[in-house]
Amino acid sequence: MAILVAGGAGYIGSHMVKRLVEKGEDVVVADNLATGHRKAVAKEAKFYYGDIRDRQFLDRIFTNEDITAVVHFAAFSIVPESMAKPLKYFDNNTGGMITLLEAMHDFGVKYIVFSSTAATYGIPEHMPIKETDPQKPINPYGLSKLMMEEMMAWADKAYGIKFVALRYFNVAGAAPDGTIGEDHGPETHLVPIIMQVAEGKRKELSIFGDDYDTPDGTNVRDYVHVMDLADAHILAIKYLEAGNESNAFNLGSSTGFSNKQMLEAAREVTGKEIPAKMAPRRPGDPDSLVAASDKAREVLGWQPQYDDVHDIIATAWKWHETHPAGYDDRGEATLY
Ligand code: UFG
Repeated sequence: MAILVAGGAGYIGSHMVKRLVEKGEDVVVADNLATGHRKAVAKEAKFYYGDIRDRQFLDRIFTNEDITAVVHFAAFSIVPESMAKPLKYFDNNTGGMITLLEAMHDFGVKYIVFSSTAATYGIPEHMPIKETDPQKPINPYGLSKLMMEEMMAWADKAYGIKFVALRYFNVAGAAPDGTIGEDHGPETHLVPIIMQVAEGKRKELSIFGDDYDTPDGTNVRDYVHVMDLADAHILAIKYLEAGNESNAFNLGSSTGFSNKQMLEAAREVTGKEIPAKMAPRRPGDPDSLVAASDKAREVLGWQPQYDDVHDIIATAWKWHETHPAGYDDRGEATLY
C-alpha cells in the first residue's frame, strides 16, 4: 500500500514526501520536473518521471504500484504568470486533474488530497476568510484550482472518489534540518526573494504597491510553515481513510502580516540590511488574505507548530544560507 504524491519534487510536495517517509509510509512520486527538483525527493520514495496529463504514464504507475490515496501538488502556482499565460494554467492544472481523476476511477483509487489555494476566494468580502465564503477568483491560477475542486466534487458524486481540498494561504519556510527548501527558477515569492537579497544574490526587494487598503498600505498575507502544511495533508488522508465525507479546509495561521512587516521580520532574523524600494502594484494581488483556520484544527485535529513568522523565516534562512545555489541542478531534468 503506497501513497502517490503527484508533484512530489516541487517545493511543497517534497516536504510532504519527507514527512511521509519519516512516518514510515511507502511513497511513490510522479513529477515531470517542470518546476521540481529530483534532488528534493527523499531517496526512500520511488520516483516516476512523467506528466500526469499523460494517461499511459498514470496507467503505468497505477498498474505497478498498490496506490491507496493520491496527494496532488502537480500544478503551476504563480499568480502573475497566470495573468499573462492563462491557458498554460488551464491546460496543466485543470487538464491534469481530468486525467488523474479518470485514472483513479479506472483503478479504483478512492481518496485524493488536493493542493488548493486562497486564490480561489478572489477579493474576500470579510476577513478572516471562512471555507463557506464565496469563491470568486480574480486570476486564472485561482480559477484553474476552483475548477479542479469542482471536478472533484462531481467525481465524488459520480464515482465515489472522496476528496479533501486544502486551501493554502502563503506557504513559506523549509525543513528545519536544512536538507530541503524552496528553489524556484525564476523566483517570484516574497520570502525566498527577501532571502536572496539577504544573501546578496539580488540587489534589493521591490515591494509591489503601498497604496492598498491595509494598515501600512502593503498587501497583507497569512503565512504558514511548509512542514505544518505537510502535517495537515497527512491528517487529511487519515480523515478520508476513516470514511468521512469530502471536505475543504483553509490552512493558514489566522494572522496577517504585511509585506513591510515581513521585510522587518527578515531583517531581524538574518541580521542583514536587506535593501528595499517601493514599486508599482503587481496585477492580480488582493489587498489582504487571512484565513479562518479553526475548521482544520477542529475537524482534522491540525496543530501547527510554527505560530511566529520569525521562526518560519529562520528555517527559510537556514536553507538559503546552506544552499546558495539552491539544488544546483538547472538543466538536469532532461536526464530523467
Ligand atoms: N511581493 C513583493 N515583491 C516581490 C514578491 C512578492 O512585494 O518581489 C508581494 C506580492 O505582491 C504579494 C506578497 O508579496 O503582496 C506575496 O506574494 P507571493 O508571490 O509570495 O505570494 P502570493 O500571495 O501571490 O501567492 C501565494 C501563493 C498562491 C496563493 C496565495 C494566497 O503562491 O498559491 O499565496 O495567499 F493563492
